[in-house]
Amino acid sequence: MTALRKATVALTTEAVPFAIRAERASDVAAREALLDASFGENRQARTCQRIRDGRAPAEGLAFTAVHRGRVVGTVRLWHVSAGGIPALVLGPLAVDGPYRKFGIGAALMKHAVAAAKARGHGAVVLLGDAPYYARFGFSPLKTGELSLPGPFERDRLLGLELREGALDGAWGMIVPTGMTASRPRPRVSEKARQLSPQAA
Ligand SMILES: CC(C)(COP(=O)(O)OP(=O)(O)OC[C@H]1O[C@@H](n2cnc3c(N)ncnc32)[C@H](O)[C@@H]1OP(=O)(O)O)[C@@H](O)C(=O)NCCC(=O)NCCS
Repeated sequence: MTALRKATVALTTEAVPFAIRAERASDVAAREALLDASFGENRQARTCQRIRDGRAPAEGLAFTAVHRGRVVGTVRLWHVSAGGIPALVLGPLAVDGPYRKFGIGAALMKHAVAAAKARGHGAVVLLGDAPYYARFGFSPLKTGELSLPGPFERDRLLGLELREGALDGAWGMIVPTGMTASRPRPRVSEKARQLSPQAA
């Protein structure tokens, strides 16, 4: 693993050289298309989306995998209260179809978890397939008494402590606590700007 710039990590597999960097505003269209392709266009109806509605990801914890400048993977983390315990929810994690099985998903997971730990967060929870996430240390051991605001499969609610004991006694609803996402400013046309009175 070689650091290219401070915020970019280059990783090379035999077949697909890729890099992981902080998400940029210009990634939005490609990221949303990738998520639609990975989870279907009704993905907004999923229970985990209720954690993200109207919120911004946790600061410094949204990452993009790129291959020759193209967005091929994404992962984001979100501030929550897990029954009163400050934690992060991870997701969605997705890698573009043709780029799967090259280790990009694992690299995104390791990068995101390490970054969360470096920022002092105590725990990460997610809703996902245990056979995939177990390899990164996630388990249902301490999430059995937690709930999500909507239907979910109990055996898919997994947790990872970044600080030992951070999820001890976790009980109750997982609710969002992150910053409200800023809305894009309405564009004011040049003509409207010329017609509007100037502020004194
Ligand atoms: C899950 C996903 C992010 C993995 O990305 P990736 O870049 O292929 O991941 P990696 O290359 O690090 O790992 C691939 C391995 O994970 C396995 N894997 C992928 N999804 C899995 C799952 N749901 N359960 C168990 N194993 C899984 C693959 O079979 C492969 O196994 P192998 O190494 O033995 O061949 C990608 O398949 C994806 O975007 N899927 C659609 C969206 C999704 O399901 N996201 C996760 C939400 S639960």
